Amino acid sequence: MRILIIGGSGFIGRALIGRLLEMGHEVSVLSRRPQAVRLPSAVTVYPWDGRRGAPWADVLAEMNAVVNLAGANLGAGRWTPQRKHEFLTSRVWSGEAVVEAFSLAARKPSVLLQASAVGYYGPCGNEIITEDAPPGKDFLGQLCVQWETSTQPVEAWGVRRVLLRTGIVLAKDSLALKRLVLPIRWGVGGPLGSGKQWMPWIHLADQIEAMLFLLQHEQARGPYNLTAPNPVRNVDFGRTLARVMRRPFWLPVPALILRLLLGEMSTMVLDGQRAVPRRLLELGYRFRFENLESALRDLLAS
Ligand SMILES: NC(=O)c1ccc[n+]([C@@H]2O[C@H](COP(=O)([O-])OP(=O)(O)OC[C@H]3O[C@@H](n4cnc5c(N)ncnc54)[C@H](OP(=O)(O)O)[C@@H]3O)[C@@H](O)[C@H]2O)c1
Repeated sequence: MRILIIGGSGFIGRALIGRLLEMGHEVSVLSRRPQAVRLPSAVTVYPWDGRRGAPWADVLAEMNAVVNLAGANLGAGRWTPQRKHEFLTSRVWSGEAVVEAFSLAARKPSVLLQASAVGYYGPCGNEIITEDAPPGKDFLGQLCVQWETSTQPVEAWGVRRVLLRTGIVLAKDSLALKRLVLPIRWGVGGPLGSGKQWMPWIHLADQIEAMLFLLQHEQARGPYNLTAPNPVRNVDFGRTLARVMRRPFWLPVPALILRLLLGEMSTMVLDGQRAVPRRLLELGYRFRFENLESALRDLLAS
């Protein structure tokens, strides 16, 4: 298969590329900084500006599938008004560029995997969240709605569009896991806020295998929660991590402190969703890592 990955230079994109090349697929990437990205030499990297589709419509016409992962990183720092604007525009403009490229391409790829996030559902308390739950009214919820909607027009050309509502992706080198490991390594780990908020995690290996499964499964279309079948509360996540690391877990961090330190971004650690991958399981996907402890033992094994 010939696959174009937009935003493929990032954390998920690089892992996906590794697996696609192993499987013998041809991979191309669109990047805003083609000279700077470090990708395997087998990958063809095309430049783009994150906004326009016309310049690469001919590239798209050669592809069987497109994966759109582009978006400014939500976890990289405080959410200033400028950064919130960039979170939105980097996703919506990219999506609109994808639609423009599809509209101009003489031949359309048959499938589009479109990134999204479980943040779509907003803060959900204790409720079990499947794909038919409504979107949240908060900033992240509304961001995800606009992000997902931006590529909807491709469905008019018969393109099978799959929405990847991804949870917290855990990998050895992921920012999320590094931040969770650090206080525990220092012996000052503890629940964040009430500790009751749910954490919809997924091991990177399952994130990638589930993407490949959805790419190849002709029946897959619409939203899929890419989260392990067993989400955990923040306090249980921390306890499990501390047990695996053989470190103490005792020092709660009050929500107020996190709000002061992180501002609005604190919603990413203080709120959560008890999201479950109902549609992936119904379609027959089998998780390699269903339980947190086995995922963490795998990731933290030296
Ligand atoms: N990692 C997670 O835990 C997680 C969870 C839920 C959802 N997601 C979503 O899944 C997607 C991929 O995640 P990731 O962790 O691989 O993200 P990432 O490492 O931040 O990579 C995203 C890519 O998007 C491109 N990008 C960044 N800013 C952009 C902008 N202003 N305009 C257009 N493109 C821009 C970059 O590619 P170039 O610099 O090469 O152009 C970057 O490599 C993201 O949209 C993310 O929000 C990730």
